[in-house]
Amino acid sequence: MAIDFDFELDSYEAENRIIDAEYSENDVDTEITLRPKVLDDYIGQTKVKENLKVYIEAAKQRGEMLDHVLLYGPPGLGKTTLAGIIANEMNVNIRITSGPAIEKPGDLVALLTNLSDNDILFIDEIHRLARTVEEILYPAMEDYEIDIIIGKGPSARSLRMKLPKFTLIGATTRAGQLSTPLRDRFGVLFKLELYSTDELATIVERSARILGFDIDRGGALQIASCSRGTPRIANRLLKRARDFAQVKGTGVIDSKIAKIALEALEIDQLGLDNVDRRMLEAIIKFYGGGPVGLDTLAATIGEEAITIEDVYEPYLMQIGFLSRTPRGRCVTKLAYDHLGIPFGGNNTQTSII
Ligand code: ADE
Repeated sequence: MAIDFDFELDSYEAENRIIDAEYSENDVDTEITLRPKVLDDYIGQTKVKENLKVYIEAAKQRGEMLDHVLLYGPPGLGKTTLAGIIANEMNVNIRITSGPAIEKPGDLVALLTNLSDNDILFIDEIHRLARTVEEILYPAMEDYEIDIIIGKGPSARSLRMKLPKFTLIGATTRAGQLSTPLRDRFGVLFKLELYSTDELATIVERSARILGFDIDRGGALQIASCSRGTPRIANRLLKRARDFAQVKGTGVIDSKIAKIALEALEIDQLGLDNVDRRMLEAIIKFYGGGPVGLDTLAATIGEEAITIEDVYEPYLMQIGFLSRTPRGRCVTKLAYDHLGIPFGGNNTQTSII
């Protein structure tokens, strides 16, 4: 199976936040080494795995390709990994690109015409495709054909061109932002969920085995519980905990060393860092705990609204610290308790000074 990467890492937001689930250049080596290659090695996402096994088996029995697949869910949960596994299990080549990397219709035409029969085309962040590019995908997905315009002005002619038969795997953190015509052309839709602490601990144990160092279950659980349901974060924390185990411990990551590492990184028991706490405290201090509109909140803490929605909020909502109401975001009593701020008291600050 050949894997062909075709995206610029620069197009991903460079973030140094260790618990940012978004992909960063520092993850390249680790992710490629640790990525499971077959479904049986993929931990968690049980329902997705069970169904995928059936679809792959059925397609192979019929000697057909898999239907187009849409994977959606928060960042860092293994959408690219899963696409690689599908290619491997189907024994076909995969070409990997991303929505922002395909700037013009011509870029997509070049990609599509260079595929071979049965190849998989993986488009990450597919919701960021330009509309003009997206429109090329409709006939390509449906009939394996594209219309190309030759020439300009009155002499322009449209030429229909046959494409190799391919499977498109699209990945997105925002299924709601996909246009209906595009969404409807995927035969298989899978929603990836945040992982349980137990699953993350097992992932971390597997990663330590591959990277060649020791971790006990207590250490793995400690790291897992602070990883916000996200393997990418768990693997990053694991690497930092290994440094602490090496320098301050016996080399083995146990719960004591894991705790020391997490404290040094200022990540609390629930996996919140300073950015999360700052956001929750800002809602409490300036807006009485909410409701506050997304854009107002974004301006207050100096973050982009989309980052708040995609990166911070999913986990804070999952642990019940934040709720989205029609009138805006609200901090819950659970979060007040966690931050040690009295709930229902007057915590509102009317001025920054
Ligand atoms: N590494 C990252 N995600 C994983 C998963 N779901 N299973 C096993 N290893 C992983």
